[in-house]
Amino acid sequence: MRLANRMERLGTETAFDVLCRAKALECTRTVIHLEIGEPDFATPKHIVAAAKQALDEGWTHYGPSAGLPELREAIAEYAGRLRGVKFFPEQVVVTPGAKPVMAFAIMALVDTGDEVIYPNPGFPIYESMIEYMGGRPVPVRLREERNFRLDAEELAQMVNSRTKLIVINSPANPTGGVLTREDLRLIADTALKHNVWILADEIYSEIVYDQPFESIAQFTDVHPRLIILDGFSKTFAMTGWRIGYGIMPKDMAEKMARIETNINSCTATFIQRACLAALQGPREPVERMVAEFRRRRDFIVDGLNRLPGFRCSKPQGAFYVFPNIEGTGMDCKVLADRLLEEEGVACLAGTCFGKFGDGFLRLSYANSIENIGAALERIASFLKRNR
Ligand SMILES: Cc1ncc(COP(=O)(O)O)c(C=O)c1O
Repeated sequence: MRLANRMERLGTETAFDVLCRAKALECTRTVIHLEIGEPDFATPKHIVAAAKQALDEGWTHYGPSAGLPELREAIAEYAGRLRGVKFFPEQVVVTPGAKPVMAFAIMALVDTGDEVIYPNPGFPIYESMIEYMGGRPVPVRLREERNFRLDAEELAQMVNSRTKLIVINSPANPTGGVLTREDLRLIADTALKHNVWILADEIYSEIVYDQPFESIAQFTDVHPRLIILDGFSKTFAMTGWRIGYGIMPKDMAEKMARIETNINSCTATFIQRACLAALQGPREPVERMVAEFRRRRDFIVDGLNRLPGFRCSKPQGAFYVFPNIEGTGMDCKVLADRLLEEEGVACLAGTCFGKFGDGFLRLSYANSIENIGAALERIASFLKRNR
C-alpha cells in the first residue's frame, strides 16, 4: 500500500482499541468496562421522542453545512447563558460529534512547522491531529501535585513566534483537572499578547462537582481568537448520536462550514432537531446524572486510595480518575493489559494520553457503583497475587 507520508503521523484513541479487545474477551468471561469515555445513562426520553418525531416529519434530507438556523440560534443562547456572555447564531458551527471541531480548527489554522501547545496527559486526538497536519506538538505537562491543573505560567513561557494555537481542556480528560478563573485570564492574556488562537475544549462543561464551571469565554476580549468546542455527547448522554458544535468568530465559522461542506456536507438533520429538545427540555436528567457521577467519584477515589501502590487525587470534573500506580512497581501498560486479560477489568494506561501519563492508569467511572466495587475487588486480588 503506498499511502501519503502523513498517514505515518496519524495517532489514535486507544480507548476504542481496548473496547474492541474487551468485547472479544467477553465471549469467554465477564468484563467490567472502565475504559470508554461515555455516560452509561440512556439518552433522556424527551430527546429520543423528538428524534422520532423529526423522522416522521421528514427531517431526512441535507441541511446547511453550519447547521439548521434554529439549532444554531438555540446553541448560541444556551452556550452563552452557561458562560455568562452573548453569542450569535452566525458564530455556531454544528458538527457530527464535537471531535471534528478539533480537527477542523487544526486544519484551518496550522501550517507545516507551526507550533501548537496542548495538555499532556491529554485527549490523544490533539497530538494526533497536530502531527497529521504537519504542525509541531508542544506538550505542556499536567502535574499530579497540582491536581492536574495546567500551569498557566509555564504555558505562557512556551509561547514563541512560531506558536499558532493553544489547546486547553477544562474539565479535562483523562485527569478531571479544572482551570480556575485566574488561570483562564492568564491564558487569555498570553494568547492576546502573542496573537495566538485558543481552542477551548469544554465538552465536560456541565460535569463539574466542587465549583461552578469557568469558561475562558467569560473574557470577551479574547473572543476574536477563541474557538469553543462543546456538544451533546457527555451532557445529554448522546455519544452515539454524533453531534457537537464549535463557537468562534463569524469569519472562522464560515471557514469551518466550508471544511464541513468538503468533508461531511452537514450533520444529520433529524438529530439536529432532537438537539433542540435537549437544549430546551427539562434539566432534571442532566442533574441526576451529574449527582450520580459525584457519588461514584467519591466511591472510586476512596477505593483506589486503599489499594497498595495506588494513589489517586480527587478529580473536579468529567468522569475519569487518573491514579498514580508507580507504587505497584509495574509499568502502566503492562498493568492495564494484565488487568484486562487476567481480571476482566478494562482500563487504559496513562501513556494512551501522552508521554507524561506514564505511571498512571485512567479509569472511567461511567459505570454502576456495583460494577466499580467489583472492579476494585478484582484489582485488589490481582495486586495481592502479584506482590
Ligand atoms: C476531551 C474531549 N474532547 C472531545 C471529545 C469528543 O466528543 P464527541 O464524542 O462529541 O466527538 C471527547 C470524547 O471523549 C473528549 O474526551
